[in-house]
Amino acid sequence: MRFVAPAILSAIALPLLASAAVEAPAAPASGPVTWADFLTSCQTPGQIAITYSEGPSEATMVMLETLKEAQAKVTFFANATWLQYMQYAGVTRHAYMDGHLIGMTYRLPSDTSTGRTDEEIKQDIARASRTIQDLIGVYPRYMKVHESNLKDARLLNLLKSMGYTLVGFNLDEYDYKYNTAATSGQIAEVYNAMFSKQLDAYGRKASYIVAGYDVPSTGAASGLPKVVNMIQAHGYDMVRLDGCTNDKTPYKKDPILNNGYVGDAKSFGAAEYKHGQQAVKAINAGAGGGDSSPQDGSDASKATGGGQNKSASSHLVVALSTLAIVPLVCAYLF
Ligand SMILES: *[C@@H]1O[C@H](CO)[C@@H](O)[C@H](O)[C@H]1NC(C)=O
Ligand SMILES: *[C@@H]1O[C@H](CO)[C@@H](O)[C@H](O)[C@H]1NC(C)=O
Repeated sequence: MRFVAPAILSAIALPLLASAAVEAPAAPASGPVTWADFLTSCQTPGQIAITYSEGPSEATMVMLETLKEAQAKVTFFANATWLQYMQYAGVTRHAYMDGHLIGMTYRLPSDTSTGRTDEEIKQDIARASRTIQDLIGVYPRYMKVHESNLKDARLLNLLKSMGYTLVGFNLDEYDYKYNTAATSGQIAEVYNAMFSKQLDAYGRKASYIVAGYDVPSTGAASGLPKVVNMIQAHGYDMVRLDGCTNDKTPYKKDPILNNGYVGDAKSFGAAEYKHGQQAVKAINAGAGGGDSSPQDGSDASKATGGGQNKSASSHLVVALSTLAIVPLVCAYLF
């Protein structure tokens, strides 16, 4: 809790704590959402759960290559909008098959719950959840609310009542800031500074939930090999969010009802659950794979097709051109 990011404190804690203060202290399981409802660290010191939101995208494919080489698992909060496009649906399915945890991102239509009934909002959340379930067979439990909706207490309370686990973070990897070939190497230094500061101050490891963005306009993909190696060098253990919370059932039984959770073969505690990592020696060349160019920022950027500084609108253009070529749906072809 020590390193809760200022963004979380200002966006969640202030408005929600303020409203919580008016009410009598409520039972944590049923009361209004406070910032304490957001996951911001793991159960076990030394764990680090990297999470990525806003994808899938071209960047996700590159990250999957790196993560495979590192034998490391992360959590992807899928944006259901992108899953309408075959190529992105395939990426999320690939991530799931590779043993990564799939959560979801959610953002209210026009960014407000005002003017909508609870039922309408629930149905909209469920629609996104079902899109993911169509693809991977389970409904996501771990939920990353889009930052522009973090002050919408009504949405947060609805999500909580539906049984979603709200995810925050205590380490921002700043991949949106270090987003060029020249700067993405700095992302690993963000981790280095965090780990070193913790060690200096307390003489022991903390645990971290990392906020990253798997879109081509960030340095997340090209910075990842160095990040893995930095984590390895500091002796931290990479985990999915279910490993971070000791959760054997990281998926929901139902997209709307709060009627329990399920696990799968790769969930925490199950036979195929994996955690940890190994140092990465080569930079992968995206979908082609196998390029063993030396590890530095500029090569990493080339390996991802030079797309590291594309805007969100070019992401959309790619998606739309895909749409023009292939008919919708067909997720299972992947
Ligand atoms: C998903 O992506 C679409 C298209 O870029 C965007 O409009 C929407 O806000 C995103 N949703 C979330 C939850 O991030
Ligand atoms: C990348 O984008 C950022 C912000 O959009 C901009 O400041 C920077 O100059 C861009 N870098 C390159 C290499 O285009």
